[in-house]
Amino acid sequence: MGIIEKALEFVEEFFAQDFGGHDYFHTLRVYRLATHIAEQEKAALPIVQLAALLHDVDDRKLSPETCADKTNARRFLTENGADAATVERVCRIIGEVSFIGTDSVVPESVEGKCVQDADRLDAIGAIGVARAFAYGGSHNRFMHHPDLPPQLNMNKEAYQNSRSTTVNHFYEKLLLLKDCMNTPTAKRLAESRHRYMQEFLAEFMAEWDGTA
Ligand code: ADP
Ligand code: NI
Repeated sequence: MGIIEKALEFVEEFFAQDFGGHDYFHTLRVYRLATHIAEQEKAALPIVQLAALLHDVDDRKLSPETCADKTNARRFLTENGADAATVERVCRIIGEVSFIGTDSVVPESVEGKCVQDADRLDAIGAIGVARAFAYGGSHNRFMHHPDLPPQLNMNKEAYQNSRSTTVNHFYEKLLLLKDCMNTPTAKRLAESRHRYMQEFLAEFMAEWDGTA
């Protein structure tokens, strides 16, 4: 079995208990999207695929104690025979992927750009709507609260401490992602996903107000 197949098995097991929007299928979708984008952008496929598969195994929210050193990703790669340069390239990308408000970074390598774009594409569109409400439900958030306006331009600390409603999350993150895509392929894919969210919010507010 190659290292990619092993990584697929590793993440399936790793995320088996997550129901808050970070499940195995999120990783699988990011892997497929990143592969598609990398083929178009002529990026190094094995690096993109490994980074996509491992991008959430040291996530700050899921695994705060391994986040800084990327311990889980590093151990998986080393135990499965990746060379030192591959381990460093993949771990660097994992550290660059996250959305953390105005402190988010543009990944240095084209491979990192592909993985960040794939992760962000999976946060928008119909899947993005579903994930946002799944996350909100599992974190005891209001779907919407008319007296709580969105907080724009949050930095890393404000973003990570925010307990915003799920509708506000669209204005604080999801609707901003279209213009943050790195690659032409992802920019194209983001257009229709973005439109879908705008239509969803218009319908949601009309139903909320009793006018639809
Ligand atoms: P990822 O690591 O995949 O970039 P995050 O850890 O930021 O994603 O969040 C996982 C999912 O939960 C995403 O779809 C994201 O949009 C959603 N999410 C994160 N924070 C909130 C929030 N405050 N309200 C609703 N959904 C959220
Ligand atoms: Ni992710």
